[in-house]
Amino acid sequence: MKKYVAADIYDNNGLLLVAKGMEISEKKVSKLKQFGLEEEIIEKTISEKKVTASNPTVKKPTKSGLNNTMDMFMASMNLLNKKVKGTDLEDFNYCNELLIDLLFGQEENWRIHLIGLANYADWVYTHSINVAILSLMIGKALGYKEEDLRILGVSAFLHDVGYLLIPKSLILGSSQFDAKDGYIVQQHCDLGKALLDEIPIEKVCKDVVLQHHERLDGSGYPNGLKTDDINPCAKIVMIADSFDAMTSERPYGEAVSQEMAVKMLQNDVEKYDRNLISIFTDILNPPHFRFV
Ligand SMILES: [Fe+2]
Repeated sequence: MKKYVAADIYDNNGLLLVAKGMEISEKKVSKLKQFGLEEEIIEKTISEKKVTASNPTVKKPTKSGLNNTMDMFMASMNLLNKKVKGTDLEDFNYCNELLIDLLFGQEENWRIHLIGLANYADWVYTHSINVAILSLMIGKALGYKEEDLRILGVSAFLHDVGYLLIPKSLILGSSQFDAKDGYIVQQHCDLGKALLDEIPIEKVCKDVVLQHHERLDGSGYPNGLKTDDINPCAKIVMIADSFDAMTSERPYGEAVSQEMAVKMLQNDVEKYDRNLISIFTDILNPPHFRFV
């Protein structure tokens, strides 16, 4: 039987461990116990009835906020263009323009999260843009129609939206990072899904947000799903996400080269979709640009 968290659960330092409305497994309950939470408190806050998530407060977008967000977008795009220099420029520009239209073309109910990501941490916003473009390029190579590309683009852009509910100090690396912090950061998948449950949005977007850290062999999180249970768009986004994470400077790690990142993905054949990795490799290094 499924169980849900009926109230936000915090640790002694006020860090959110589990958010109200999230589905909770036995595995998560034992993790919480490991972090010192009393069994009685956990039991009291778990319900067998579905609980609506707390509506998190995010600042309303302003006109100047949007302009700034657009400027940051263009700067990120120039950086990504240099990073994937072997890519077909026509496809890159097509995906770039499609994403600009998706993010800035019309007033969407998820626009508030675009502003939220742009104001949260620069690297998270840049990463969201990169993952969206790289995912769109894979989708385009797969022959996705524009309507499906639009859904994939929004899903990929919002994949880490749950970070908005994680303390910024953990994301910026400004504090010591231990196992509990790692657990808290991993909550961004469930938290992101809870955020999207608050607005009318395609189910694919929620699946991608929840599943982008799952792996085909069941070794991922939050639910250890395997191949057939993972949304096809999440299989695309997990490749774009891992590639961009590996090739970017992060508070917790150095960037590796594009070639090294591709090799690392290829070595993890049991975790990622083999066909998608092959398509992605061709996108980064098309035949007429192939290194000799
Ligand atoms: Fe993520």
